[in-house]
Amino acid sequence: MTERVGILVVSYGSRAAAMVDAFYRSENYKVELYIADRQRNPFNIKRAKEFTVVPDLNVGDICKFAKKHQDKIDFGIVGPEKPIINGVRDLIEGETDIPMICPTKRYALEGSKVAQRLLFQEVIPEVNPKFKVFNPKEYKSLDEVKRDLYRWLDELDNRVAVKPDAPAAGKGVGVWGDHFTTREQLREHFLANYRAGPVIVEEKLEGEESSFQAFCDGKHLIPLPETRDYKRAFDGDAGPNTGGMGSYKDVGEYLPFMTEADWRKEEEIIERLFRKLRGDGSNPELRGIPFYEAFIHTAKGPMILENNSRPGDPEIQNILPILKDDFVDVCYKMIEGTLTRVEVEKKATVVTYKVPPNYGGYIDTFPDRVRREEIGTPVDLTEAEKLSSKYGDNIRIYPGSMELRDDKTYPLRSRTVCVVGVAEDIQSAREISLEGIRAIKGGALWYRRDIASREHIARSIEHMKRLRGTKN
Ligand code: GLY
Repeated sequence: MTERVGILVVSYGSRAAAMVDAFYRSENYKVELYIADRQRNPFNIKRAKEFTVVPDLNVGDICKFAKKHQDKIDFGIVGPEKPIINGVRDLIEGETDIPMICPTKRYALEGSKVAQRLLFQEVIPEVNPKFKVFNPKEYKSLDEVKRDLYRWLDELDNRVAVKPDAPAAGKGVGVWGDHFTTREQLREHFLANYRAGPVIVEEKLEGEESSFQAFCDGKHLIPLPETRDYKRAFDGDAGPNTGGMGSYKDVGEYLPFMTEADWRKEEEIIERLFRKLRGDGSNPELRGIPFYEAFIHTAKGPMILENNSRPGDPEIQNILPILKDDFVDVCYKMIEGTLTRVEVEKKATVVTYKVPPNYGGYIDTFPDRVRREEIGTPVDLTEAEKLSSKYGDNIRIYPGSMELRDDKTYPLRSRTVCVVGVAEDIQSAREISLEGIRAIKGGALWYRRDIASREHIARSIEHMKRLRGTKN
């Protein structure tokens, strides 16, 4: 008889729908899902044994839900950063016997960019850009901080990135040349963040970005294949930063613009970081995905832009659909400290997001492109879902920021729904993803058309060749 397992999923967005999907498809277990979600996600509601909405994802209400069903829950897993940073694991493990898969509050490095930079400086200084922390507690006046800021800008020739200490879903980051071109604009962005707390001003690095993720059981770190996220809102990497408009993964472990040496270097860097935090033996407080690293590949090799303490959205959607192992077994091994390997199919995957008209300021930038008559209408996934009969498991449709109301699904404010295409190469995976995206109707949704395009990837390859000074 198939073993029953009860799983608590703390959910926000398409990332958690992908986790729910991976559990729901388990062949080794009869899975019962207990889902605490930020909204009435139609995908998750359909698959949940018990479902609750916690609109602000506060850890107290999530814990209450876990306690109510604790006799039926074998373990829990968390997708979004906010409850992890606020100590959801500490609270649930303190009040119930449910083991949680996510780092404890102490190891949620994502909570402070300043603390991250200081840790990197100690353990892996060669991948840390030059940086300076501007802490409001250390300055008596705005004139004083301005003097220091401008001195630092002189030193770095204005080529900087300005980042708030606290996480802002990529939106607080401003980069010279992209988000501002004068010191006045930079100072405005700086002050908007400085009023809320410490700000880091760091050297702007030139290169190509990639995302590193790894499962961790406290004792072992198991790197997952590399992915590329598309942070900027519009085609050609224009517009403001977003949570990520799409992503791709190549057939193997690293990306077309990377070398195997880059990949090995990343692994070595994160292994050093892991060993520092783990100490000798094991540190189960690191369980989950404590190191989801945004790397940038420069002329000097990979450098770290930031560390997150959770799965990437959309990057984990590139991985979970092609996990060869049963995801429930992977989770049990993370809890037991016996996760020594993870098998992933040798396939390419492409994720494209469809988002509402306001997202990334689209409606203001491209007012003529928005189908205004569709604003406020439901989103219809029927035709996209029918594509499963053509592509089988090679297409996945994961609703994110949308909710079920009176049997219809409506877009909310953030990324609405993503489509994952799986295939033997990146371009075929992209075709599937785009076919799915085009079949989604309603809500005046829009999407980036160049995610994983041949041209975009070729540009990344050329850029890296230029930086490295090589011809091939
Ligand atoms: N893809 C960006 C993030 O998950 O933070």
